Amino acid sequence: MKLLGKKILLGVSGGIAAYKIPNLVRLLKKNGAEVQVLMTASAAEFASPLALATVSENKVLTEIFPDSAHEAKAEWTCHISLGEWADLFVIAPATANTIGKLASGLCDDMLSAAFLTLRPAKPRLIFPSMDGEMYFAKAVQRNLAQLKADGCEVIEPETGSLASGLTGMGRMPDPETIFDRIVKTYDSNEDAELCRAFDGKNVVVTAGATREKIDDVRFISNYSSGKMGFALAASAAKLGAKVTLITGKTALQTPQGVQRIDVESAREMLVAAEAFFTACDMFIAAAAVADYRPASPHEGKIKKSENVFEIQLVKNPDILQLFGTQKSSKQVAIGFALEAQNPMENAKEKLAKKNLDLIVLNSASEPGAGFEVDTNVVTLIGKDGTLEKLPLMSKLEVAKVILKKSSFFFGKDMLLS
Ligand SMILES: Cc1cc2nc3c(=O)[nH]c(=O)nc-3n(C[C@H](O)[C@H](O)[C@H](O)COP(=O)(O)O)c2cc1C
Repeated sequence: MKLLGKKILLGVSGGIAAYKIPNLVRLLKKNGAEVQVLMTASAAEFASPLALATVSENKVLTEIFPDSAHEAKAEWTCHISLGEWADLFVIAPATANTIGKLASGLCDDMLSAAFLTLRPAKPRLIFPSMDGEMYFAKAVQRNLAQLKADGCEVIEPETGSLASGLTGMGRMPDPETIFDRIVKTYDSNEDAELCRAFDGKNVVVTAGATREKIDDVRFISNYSSGKMGFALAASAAKLGAKVTLITGKTALQTPQGVQRIDVESAREMLVAAEAFFTACDMFIAAAAVADYRPASPHEGKIKKSENVFEIQLVKNPDILQLFGTQKSSKQVAIGFALEAQNPMENAKEKLAKKNLDLIVLNSASEPGAGFEVDTNVVTLIGKDGTLEKLPLMSKLEVAKVILKKSSFFFGKDMLLS
């Protein structure tokens, strides 16, 4: 489901390649996109509007003034609401005629009118498709240059046999290639939006296991490798954030552009973290902090003598809870939960109790998840009630999804450009 929830306006103009478009629509739908087909009158000569309506599960729109215009006011404003609704406009095939209209701002059908109403920051992909002579005609090249200057992405047609019987440049790429290009556009656009959201933000990440001293040579710890926290720090730094990584003992290398603070115990981690509580925009607690520590660690080495040796443990401070309960409404708090019993209920309880924006529920039992491995299987639970179960992914991929989801809590307006 590479395009889950994406909203695509698909403009189809009257080139011979329009017959391939139902297959493109099927691919988009299969991958979770909502598709609104806008067809020119000529396109209906090459692809069946009924077929496109069926595969898109949506009415195909052609005219600005449909027969029913006088009955329903909504139809009149349709091209405006389409531009507001969509997050991508694809035109495939784009004929010489339609390219000319779009380049000069003409809008006498639904495709060209909706094209003008798409929000400026949204990408426009244009797939010219025509005979080679037409494609290289000065007027067509001039119009394509104008569209590029207006911020559209014009994808060069392929070379091959053309409907005219000639061989040359002008073929529309296959639906699979167009689909890949659409996915790539969304990916790079989302990256750009994420970079804008994180640029200059102060992000603090805790990682790894703490060590709680029993004596000068022994400690209590856990199996956390720190990989998830390091992946989060690396991803946030790549997005332009100023990242401070407070980590327990680990052999991992410091990610590029990250300020690292090494600590040993939970209490040392708290002291280091507290120094950043007020200034940070986001606090991500990925460390596996020991819940308890020996009440009175011995100086030197405890001598072996008794058969049974008892250590009294006392509770460690809960760093995330301290941050969560004192943070301002502008600060974002993210925690992790590794729960053996009733994982969902316990994670949700933790989210509420610690006043978090997002909690990442780790699986303790699924293959490929948990400590030491490079992959993870997690479910993201947001304070807004959203729940997202991710498939097995590398920890770097998981980190990116966590940051993307968390950036939402910086304030919605940041991502709606
Ligand atoms: C059989 C046939 C195939 C055509 N193929 C193309 C084509 O691949 N590319 C193109 O730009 N025009 C092609 N045309 C011309 C367009 O259909 C024509 O310019 C039409 O006005 C385009 O209208 P539209 O841009 O509103 O869809 C073709 C015409 C015919 C009769």
